[in-house]
Amino acid sequence: MFSLIALSLLFTVASSTPLVEQLGLKSNDSYNIQAVLVAGSNGWYNYRHQADVCHAYQVLRSHGVPAENIIVMMYDDIANASENPHPGKIFNIPKGPDVYAGVSKDYTGDEVNAENFLKVIKGDKGLAAKGKKVLTSGPNDHVFIYFADHGATGLIAFPEDTLSSDDLNKALVYMHDNKLYGKLTFYVEACESGSMFENILPKDINIYATTAANSEESSWGCYCDEKDIDTCLGDEYSVAWLQDSDKHDLTKETLEQQFKDVVKNTPRSHPQEFGTKSIADLVVGEFQGEKASSSNQLYRKVPARGSVNSRDIPLVMLRRKMIKTNDENEAASLHKQLSNLIAGRHFLESGMNKIVAQLCSAGFCSSVEEVMTTRRPLVNHSAHSTVVKKFNSSCLNVAVHNYAMKYIYVLANLVEANNFNETSLSHFLKALERACETHIVDNGFKAIV
Ligand SMILES: *[C@@H]1O[C@H](CO)[C@@H](O)[C@H](O)[C@H]1NC(C)=O
Ligand SMILES: *[C@@H]1O[C@H](CO)[C@@H](O)[C@H](O)[C@H]1NC(C)=O
Ligand SMILES: *[C@@H]1O[C@H](CO)[C@@H](O)[C@H](O)[C@H]1NC(C)=O
Ligand SMILES: *[C@@H]1O[C@H](CO)[C@@H](O)[C@H](O)[C@H]1NC(C)=O
Ligand SMILES: *[C@@H]1O[C@H](CO)[C@@H](O)[C@H](O)[C@H]1NC(C)=O
Repeated sequence: MFSLIALSLLFTVASSTPLVEQLGLKSNDSYNIQAVLVAGSNGWYNYRHQADVCHAYQVLRSHGVPAENIIVMMYDDIANASENPHPGKIFNIPKGPDVYAGVSKDYTGDEVNAENFLKVIKGDKGLAAKGKKVLTSGPNDHVFIYFADHGATGLIAFPEDTLSSDDLNKALVYMHDNKLYGKLTFYVEACESGSMFENILPKDINIYATTAANSEESSWGCYCDEKDIDTCLGDEYSVAWLQDSDKHDLTKETLEQQFKDVVKNTPRSHPQEFGTKSIADLVVGEFQGEKASSSNQLYRKVPARGSVNSRDIPLVMLRRKMIKTNDENEAASLHKQLSNLIAGRHFLESGMNKIVAQLCSAGFCSSVEEVMTTRRPLVNHSAHSTVVKKFNSSCLNVAVHNYAMKYIYVLANLVEANNFNETSLSHFLKALERACETHIVDNGFKAIV
């Protein structure tokens, strides 16, 4: 009888109330937390993504999520990088603690790719049979996914490839249909990350997602002003939620309160919420661990500062190095790198203009300027995904030439303006391939970052 009353109380008062805690019960007494933490980049100039993910690992562990329930995907080239003035250590906050210590890395190097990520979240049996960790969560469990890297309209990046919003959301629907979670919370740090969920994530599959940026803007790196490290230690949205979790009792703070704090502490972009918003009434601890953190004293809140637009970080880093060096040879070499980078970006910009001009001549648009300067909201994610894959294979490997991501919105504009059917889409793909063959020739740019 008592348990029935307790149960009905639990269902009527929503799990965010301290009553649940007073009763010594969880809102659903039989869920486990499982988490997937992904840094999708490599290279010193992308230090911050692996720092964010290591910090996330520390947050979950310190709030009691068992190590075996956390799957980490990170390239792992930062701690031992030749550029690292603190070998074997990674920092996410200026003068903060080493967040790399103790992180168990499940997928490193080339294993960090879109295919493995999808297999991990879908609980792929084949990958598990090879001894790799995949989600083993069931219908009651709470899954937390955090991704940090570059992004563009309808895609997020991995070191060598990309993942489209269409493929990601298909995998999330698969997880729902196969009862691989009870509730799922997904945090995404990336440029234009709102476009990963806007007009595509269903509202009725118990997934709550928040993103660093809306669908049209960059996200921002921060703590880019640490003199000895010469890269950005974090990203505004990511350090906002991480520091928020560091300092709060996660059995009392709701996801919605965390989101509001994150909005307040992410000054240069506009974090967004998607999906089943009622999940945001639950406490953060239901996804990040409910134990009182013993290490929160270690963490200091440092307001986002030294912020740089993610897409400009490689340029800013090179300029700073040039100013700093006293060595003439090094200065000359840095100058050459900088000129190459700028030339690569100009090449890309004019290439995009020429490609669009050719597509307009082929009847797919009327004004190059309109396609290049406006932004139509992405609705047909599946057609966009097909077009982006074609652009990636015929024009430029988008994951390697990160700067090309800046122009992916142009493809979304063309997709939305044309209202493709199967036939017209296939004509468009052929025209795109021809335009790329004509205008994007190999100019010897190793990577336009
Ligand atoms: C980094 O270097 C340390 C010390 O040499 C070594 O133990 C560790 O395995 C290296 N880690 C990676 C990821 O290369
Ligand atoms: C508890 O789990 C069951 C089974 O998945 C689900 O139907 C129910 O909504 C959950 N209750 C709460 C309060 O989360
Ligand atoms: C999306 O584009 C495809 C062509 O790839 C088309 O078949 C489909 O009908 C479009 N969907 C919507 C909702 O417009
Ligand atoms: C993009 O192209 C590269 C090779 O150029 C390939 O390895 C990668 O898988 C492609 N990515 C997508 C999403 O098509
Ligand atoms: C597809 O769209 C094209 C261009 O809008 C149109 O001419 C054609 O009739 C359509 N085909 C089908 C099968 O609907």
